[in-house]
Amino acid sequence: MDDLLKKIAEIKEMIISAINASKDENDIRAVKENLLSKKSEFSALGRYFRELSVEERIEFGQALNVAKEDIANRLSEKEKALLEALAEKKLKKERLDVTLPGYRYEDGGINPLLEVQDEILSIFVSMGYEVYEGPDIESDYYNFERMNIPFDHPAREMQDSFYLDKTTLMRSHTSPAQARMMDMKKGEPFRVVCPGKCFRRDDDDAMHSHQFMQIEGLVIDRGISLADLKGTLELFLKKLFGEKREIRLRGSYFPFTEPSVEVDISCAECGGKGCSICKNTGFIEVLGAGMVHPNVLKMGGYDPNVYSGFAFGVGLDRIAMLKYGISDIRDLYTNDHRFVKQFKKGRF
Ligand code: PHE
Repeated sequence: MDDLLKKIAEIKEMIISAINASKDENDIRAVKENLLSKKSEFSALGRYFRELSVEERIEFGQALNVAKEDIANRLSEKEKALLEALAEKKLKKERLDVTLPGYRYEDGGINPLLEVQDEILSIFVSMGYEVYEGPDIESDYYNFERMNIPFDHPAREMQDSFYLDKTTLMRSHTSPAQARMMDMKKGEPFRVVCPGKCFRRDDDDAMHSHQFMQIEGLVIDRGISLADLKGTLELFLKKLFGEKREIRLRGSYFPFTEPSVEVDISCAECGGKGCSICKNTGFIEVLGAGMVHPNVLKMGGYDPNVYSGFAFGVGLDRIAMLKYGISDIRDLYTNDHRFVKQFKKGRF
């Protein structure tokens, strides 16, 4: 009997040490399959019952049960420990260090072109103008014909643009928005400003870009005169560049205005004395303007004997460069963060 008890103890020790040595669930499975299955040495102990007396069977059975229980306890403890270790390992791997600094998003700035656009629009909105944006892709009809620039007109040469097909192009100025407004207003008086992108075949250098921005202005009513144009532009330019600026009108030519003028402001850099910015003239050209040509009025459905109007076109790039002291027009379009964020406020 003692031999049998010893055998139980030995087998149990062997199984428990195998359990203790298990490093993962595979080891545990191997223990279950090899040492605890029906064919295992441990299960085979049952065969001794037959050879024992009733009392011995009780003692042997109890010893066997105790051993079984010990093994089962050890096994479940080990399984639990392994699971916990596994969870711990996973947690460590997935650890999130909440003390790490996050990504820093730097504040940008508004592109100076848009800033200038906003400023100019709000000046005109405060004077009762509405805002209308025409399309960037324009028909030959609106871009040229309706602006009194027929097919063979030499003024087309200065405004060569990118054509999508024979009669569709990237608009070369915002003026076609004038004609579109007249069509929409159907003979009623109005005042409007039309901002937007324009495109022309041009050199790309510090002062020229194939893409640029304009704001078109148009007022149509009874009795509008050149004095209204001058007064409006003076007010506008002084609001934009400061009260000290003087304005100057020079005679010019545009097919869609008659008479036409080029408008200059006194140079902010030298105050009119002459410097490199104003090329020693004391003045800087900032926009083109004029009284709406009778042909343009007629094509738009307005009787030139009853209605008159003025129009102007401001190049925003020029204004932004002057206002912020920017020397290369291309900087306005590359959208380099380091450039853009400098212009949170203008110089004037
Ligand atoms: N459309 C003209 C240009 O782009 C500017 C302009 C607009 C001139 C309105 C007069 C009146 O050069």
